[in-house]
Amino acid sequence: MTPTKVLIDTDPGVDDAMAVLYAAFDPAIELVGLTSIFGNVTTEIATRNALALVEMTGLDIPVAAGATRPLVQEAREVAWEVHGREGFGDVPAFTPKRKPAKEPAHEFICKMADLHEGELVLCPVGPLTNLALALEHDSSLASKVKSVTVMGGSLDEGGNVTPHAEANIWQDPHAAEKVFSANWKVSMIGLDVTHRIICSPADFAALASASPKFGGFLDDAAQFYFDFHRKVDGIDGCHMHDPTAVISIVSPQFVSFDETPVGVILDGEETGKTIRYQGEGRMNTRVATGIDANAVRERFLDIMKSAPDSQQSNSNEV
Ligand code: BDR
Ligand code: CA
Repeated sequence: MTPTKVLIDTDPGVDDAMAVLYAAFDPAIELVGLTSIFGNVTTEIATRNALALVEMTGLDIPVAAGATRPLVQEAREVAWEVHGREGFGDVPAFTPKRKPAKEPAHEFICKMADLHEGELVLCPVGPLTNLALALEHDSSLASKVKSVTVMGGSLDEGGNVTPHAEANIWQDPHAAEKVFSANWKVSMIGLDVTHRIICSPADFAALASASPKFGGFLDDAAQFYFDFHRKVDGIDGCHMHDPTAVISIVSPQFVSFDETPVGVILDGEETGKTIRYQGEGRMNTRVATGIDANAVRERFLDIMKSAPDSQQSNSNEV
């Protein structure tokens, strides 16, 4: 089977690291590049962390640096209390040897859509600013990509940063509105399903023994993320938001979807809330509303346990 070409737009971030490493090692995926965005950390740190993840895997793929602020609203505080000051929990900061691509993220997205016309799946797992800028940059972008799988939003689950809003949409609601209103095939993997997927400290400890380099790194990074979930959600484990979005691209049989146009509330108390759009002329989004949580969890752990730890990467600093 030909692997699916995927570009991940990311704000690494602990669960972003899980998603990127998963995508690097699932044989059903060809990861063609990463673009960075603020959200969990600043864009500068996100770019550095994305480069480090790529370096760690040994993949030779580009990383393009993204926007540093939302389209319209003032920048909000990054989610350091969820992911740590440097993005990977308490794992110390490190300097990758690789450098970002010469073009900014939105141009890089358009370039990759041209290069892989009709084949590329965009998978934003952070705020949607880069995708919105890419739509502005190339008015034919929507017709060139195969589909878009967004980690973000919440239809009936409520929010995780306010009672109404999920973090990625809340960080740039105007960008999200542009993405949900464009004429392309969007799947929304939001809190309605990602809140069902929980991996425990024992799952990550087992991963660390099976795969000391990659599993060990994720286990180290996850400790801070576990603390946050214990304090805020009262669970002993963590939500697997971003890996769930990536897994849904190549294992859609684990997910059930409702089809509805989606809109985003742009002001007031409900800013950043995703809703069933009632107006005319907007394409349906496939909104994930049901999930085989155990299948997703097992798929993540199986692929990560098979990560080629013996593979020599360019760097062992992570
Ligand atoms: C989303 O917000 C970030 O904290 C996570 O990385 C994920 O993309 C979940 O709301
Ligand atoms: Ca993320």
